[in-house]
Amino acid sequence: MEERNASEGIGRGFRKAILVNEHFVVYGVPAIAVPIFSPVEVTAVVRQGAGLQVSVPARSGGDGRAEEDRDRLEAVRRIVRTIGLSERERMIRIRCVDDLPGWSGLGSSAGFCVALVRALFMALNRPCTDEEVNRIAYEGEKVFAANPSGIDNTVATYGSPLWFERGGSPAWEWVRPGLPLWLVIGNSRMPCRTRDEVAKVARFRRARPDLFAGLLRDAAALGRDARRALEEGDAAGLGSLMNQGHSMLKRLGVSNERLDEMVAACRLHGALGAKLTGGGGGGCMLALAADASSGAAVVSGLKRLGHPAICVHLPLSGGRLRARDTS
Ligand code: MEV
Repeated sequence: MEERNASEGIGRGFRKAILVNEHFVVYGVPAIAVPIFSPVEVTAVVRQGAGLQVSVPARSGGDGRAEEDRDRLEAVRRIVRTIGLSERERMIRIRCVDDLPGWSGLGSSAGFCVALVRALFMALNRPCTDEEVNRIAYEGEKVFAANPSGIDNTVATYGSPLWFERGGSPAWEWVRPGLPLWLVIGNSRMPCRTRDEVAKVARFRRARPDLFAGLLRDAAALGRDARRALEEGDAAGLGSLMNQGHSMLKRLGVSNERLDEMVAACRLHGALGAKLTGGGGGGCMLALAADASSGAAVVSGLKRLGHPAICVHLPLSGGRLRARDTS
């Protein structure tokens, strides 16, 4: 406890990588995501008082940090309101441990929202179900993605690989992968603003409705095939579907030269498949490697081009994947 009459709570929320169908998932096409890296951790200190104070540790370099921090503050306000706390009656101080500044597209904002909701409930000594955490975190996610599908906060809440279908019944299901995954994550060093990319896709849909409808149909088939490949442990099949996924995202206009160059470099260095991941326009890309040594070769290829990269191993354990950083 750091001050008198205050109660403190700590919460965690997972980051994620989308294997297939980001953006299409906003329009009801199923997508597959896995949890990665260490979770985002938030500490909330709540006491009677006036005003809401949010402190996010200064993060190193890069454009868009101030804007990110403003978004976080707005997300905190929305979450506080949704939980039913009055900012005027309570003073809430938030600290966030975010060890991956600049690695955008990996669901840090959703991880933050989920961690915050859990921390607040703990500080208030109120029980809450995962379902409630997910629902409230979604309200915070709207600040970052404008029209979020809900996939990021769902993975951030449950921390397991899942099949997500916006508006579906059920909206999500566990996926039991039939193979351990070696995923390389490369950082384009370009900021990614998810809501801008989501808005870009909305414009594409208005301008080219027929083309968009065709892409949605292809994405739905690709999602089903990718789930089958993942569950059956068909790494080569999954890699090839990730490649197709990248081409479809390119057609939507959310890739760029830098991401395309990184994706090509991964394939050249032996990746089974590679694509952008998350919102695109910058941020991160994702490649599937056959094993640890192939993952290391892909990481070196990206680093030689000047891109920070990491290989993450998601071993099979009790049917669920657990993230472990191997670099
Ligand atoms: C962002 O991680 C994924 C998007 O599909 C947006 C969303 O699903 O909310 C681009």
